[in-house]
Amino acid sequence: MKILVTGAGGQVGGSLIDHGAQNNCEVVGLDRAALDISDLSAVQAVLNDQQPDIVINAAAYTAVDRAEAESERALAINATGPENLALVCKKLDIPLLHISTDFVFDGDKQGAYVETDSVAPLSVYGVSKAKGETNIAAVGGKHIILRTAWVFGGEQNFVTTMLRLGASRTELNIVDDQIGGPTSCEDIAQCLLTIATRVVDGDFSEWGIYHYCGAPSVSWFGFASAIFAGKEAPKLNPIPTKDYPTPAVRPKNSVLDCTKIKQIFNIDQPDWRSALSSFLG
Ligand SMILES: NC(=O)c1ccc[n+]([C@@H]2O[C@H](COP(=O)([O-])OP(=O)(O)OC[C@H]3O[C@@H](n4cnc5c(N)ncnc54)[C@H](OP(=O)(O)O)[C@@H]3O)[C@@H](O)[C@H]2O)c1
Repeated sequence: MKILVTGAGGQVGGSLIDHGAQNNCEVVGLDRAALDISDLSAVQAVLNDQQPDIVINAAAYTAVDRAEAESERALAINATGPENLALVCKKLDIPLLHISTDFVFDGDKQGAYVETDSVAPLSVYGVSKAKGETNIAAVGGKHIILRTAWVFGGEQNFVTTMLRLGASRTELNIVDDQIGGPTSCEDIAQCLLTIATRVVDGDFSEWGIYHYCGAPSVSWFGFASAIFAGKEAPKLNPIPTKDYPTPAVRPKNSVLDCTKIKQIFNIDQPDWRSALSSFLG
């Protein structure tokens, strides 16, 4: 199976390159310099040249707070970029796997979000990702959109930020009223490769949106406590969101229901605690 991965320089993109090789796939990984997904003619040229069996889009504008001041750029990458990929993939009859986010929801729901819940993003980033989803669906080609949440495992994420701050501070205030399912980029990569294999092997028609995130659900404070468990740690203070104002508003409830992906692909919800301990180890 030949897989083309966009955004190969990122957390999930990098893990896809590693896991693809371990799974005996031919993986063509393209970072932003090699393929800018917001450039339709570049997307056309690369896909015509490479003719992969499947495309996985791991490219995105992920600077959630900066997006509030850079909405045009966020939309070009997160909304137009996926549309460009969908248009060219449809023309060449190549399935497209795309990654989206819990930030398409407003976080007001009691209980976990299912794939059919209405989106209501609170931030520019969330709006841009939601538009990416609808743009892909509107093109109407073969596609799967995997919504995930709280990604860690690469070079820059909540875990690495905690470790960096923990090394220089004696006390940290951590938000305790936003809950979600931390998800390692390794688990996301393996999940996407399982889906890709099933899709490329054929006999598949369940296109659309799937949720995939780590369990059990936890607050940022709870996640930070796990990161520092057993280590010389700063004092951690749980605080409400209102005491940690950020440019972008984040959903209070980011928990995604992962029943559908289990039913269709037999993919289990990963336990973030074991992924965290491998990452820290
Ligand atoms: N991080 C999270 O907590 C989180 C949560 C839920 C969902 N997601 C979604 O998961 C996916 C992967 O996220 P991630 O954490 O792996 O993000 P990441 O580490 O920021 O990686 C994204 C990659 O996309 C590249 N990129 C940016 N603009 C591009 C363009 N125009 N063309 C091609 N590549 C471009 C970036 O390159 P540069 O660094 O050079 O700009 C970066 O290497 C994204 O769709 C994201 O929205 C992430």
